[in-house]
Amino acid sequence: MAISEEAAGKHAGRVVLCTGAAQGIGRAMLDAFAEQGARLALLDIDAAGLANAREQLQQDHPGVEAFCVVASVSDDVQVARAFDAVRAHYGRLDVLLNNAGISMNKPALDLAPADWRRAIDIDLSGVFYCCQQAARLMSASGGGVIVNTASMYGVVAAPERAAYCAAKAGVVALTKSLAVEWAALGIRVNALCPGYVRTALVDALIARGALDESRIQARTPAGRLGTPKEVAGVACFLASDAAAYVTGHAMLADGGWTANGYL
Ligand SMILES: NC(=O)c1ccc[n+]([C@@H]2O[C@H](COP(=O)([O-])OP(=O)(O)OC[C@H]3O[C@@H](n4cnc5c(N)ncnc54)[C@H](O)[C@@H]3O)[C@@H](O)[C@H]2O)c1
Repeated sequence: MAISEEAAGKHAGRVVLCTGAAQGIGRAMLDAFAEQGARLALLDIDAAGLANAREQLQQDHPGVEAFCVVASVSDDVQVARAFDAVRAHYGRLDVLLNNAGISMNKPALDLAPADWRRAIDIDLSGVFYCCQQAARLMSASGGGVIVNTASMYGVVAAPERAAYCAAKAGVVALTKSLAVEWAALGIRVNALCPGYVRTALVDALIARGALDESRIQARTPAGRLGTPKEVAGVACFLASDAAAYVTGHAMLADGGWTANGYL
């Protein structure tokens, strides 16, 4: 009899590659998948942060495999090399957590072309480059799952985030497009759309006055920001067999923020 996911750990033995793995939501995703028995590949532009993440993961989950590769998702050549390295190391890929991203909070009238390009290059093009490389690997072994970290700002909009909202809405549309194209390859593609989550990215925006924490709390029906662990739990579900019939979906994890039409 086959061992159930619950008995073995939802992701036992699966090779899971996470981008933006050094900190924040990506780092929490790695903890969640390590707990479920996955073999990990960590990709980030921050080499020191990656080494630190691997050390912590190996302390907290003794015996976990954690292969690191330094690359920028916005550089298609670096992305291709990174996936080659993952293939050489593990020989396969089962789950891609396409999570690397940056914020871009500026009034649209002041948004320089370089700011626009940077947000689109990392937050949208980077997601596509990684999806394409992942699908080439996954289709060679019968399929896999991709979870693209978008944002609630890929579904609704806010001022002073033109490039970010455009990139994240692009991720949602890209997710649906790839889901319908790659279902025949056995690849599911979903987007995860967090609301405000307590990470370095949000802390930096609060620190420079670009975000008002008490206003966010008041506007969020849950009354608080989310935690990286709560977002990681949704990624674990979307990547699991419990979501085997879920593809092309954009799942919000925002404490009710987008549902709330009041205030
Ligand atoms: N924190 C939030 O409230 C929130 C809300 C919605 C969506 N998101 C999205 O979640 C994802 C993770 O956000 P976070 O809050 O954990 O951010 P974070 O800044 O804490 O971590 C992002 C990680 O991505 C890496 N990274 C940045 N540019 C990269 C590049 N070009 N190539 C490879 N790695 C790169 C960074 O080095 C860092 O380790 C992002 O896509 C972000 O847009 C975050």
